[in-house]
Amino acid sequence: MRHFLTLKDFTKEEILEIVKIGLEIKKDLKSGIYKDELKKQTLGMIFEKSSTRTRVSFETGMFQLGGHALFLSNRDIHLGRGEPIKDTARVISSMCDMVMIRTFEHSMIEEFAEYSKVPVINGLTDSYHPVQLLADYMTMMEYGISENAVVAYIGDGNNMTHSWMMLAAKLGFDLRIATPKGYEVDGEVLQTALKMAKLSGANITVMNDPKKAVHGATIITTDTWASMGQEEEKSQRIKDFQGFMVDDLMMCLAQKGAQFLHCLPAYRGQEVSESVLESHANIVFDEAENRLHAQKGLMVWLNKQR
Ligand code: CP
Ligand code: NVA
Repeated sequence: MRHFLTLKDFTKEEILEIVKIGLEIKKDLKSGIYKDELKKQTLGMIFEKSSTRTRVSFETGMFQLGGHALFLSNRDIHLGRGEPIKDTARVISSMCDMVMIRTFEHSMIEEFAEYSKVPVINGLTDSYHPVQLLADYMTMMEYGISENAVVAYIGDGNNMTHSWMMLAAKLGFDLRIATPKGYEVDGEVLQTALKMAKLSGANITVMNDPKKAVHGATIITTDTWASMGQEEEKSQRIKDFQGFMVDDLMMCLAQKGAQFLHCLPAYRGQEVSESVLESHANIVFDEAENRLHAQKGLMVWLNKQR
């Protein structure tokens, strides 16, 4: 049995296989073919943070695969009132066939997985957002921009940045990360990524100059300047991130035909301009839709591993 907590634990071949299954399921869906690959199975979805895409994609995906998804907000289950993680894990995994968790500390899902009898999927922690990257890579493949990709990530060194680092390190593409001073990526995650990059041939560089990072890039991506849980820091962050908005000028510095990705939700006028989001370079809504298809691929793949 396998869990899906970070891309660090997966080989390049496994990541590509999951995306490939997702693409096949997507093709079937577009032709009106539904395969009940997870018939009668139940996905427990624990949400300790808000969500639009993650909830809708997992719930819809599970239904389309012949199963059922349970939305478990921490306001409704005893986990939010102090029932231990290990007890919650043993109880939920005795009734559900898979569990997806969106939470704060990454150690929470590690502990849950340790006590879970069924596969656990990371639906975002403070440290990583790996399911998003499956959808991002699927989108890159569909647009023919996965080969020789040069990805520039502009903004906060956060869960999305860490996941891009893991994907680049595993698949072997170039990733330049530009953050403001004081908002760099986690040092330990960087060391791990650099070590893995040596094996895959990935080129991962970190800097504080967004213009340098986007120069010649084929993909530009960013994320909110204030992640969930950082709401109180928002006004300070807006000041500290000046010069880091992905706007038309930044897109012009990239390679001609460069595409724009964003996990969403996007804050116009902060990390990205309205004009970039309304331009031809923008492929974020295909990226968002691919959450559904990529995660169906993931659930089918995880089900086959046990
Ligand atoms: N990108 C993403 O995970 O979106 P939600 O927070 O809406 O789930
Ligand atoms: N970094 C963001 C991603 C949202 C999908 C957050 O954690 O809030």
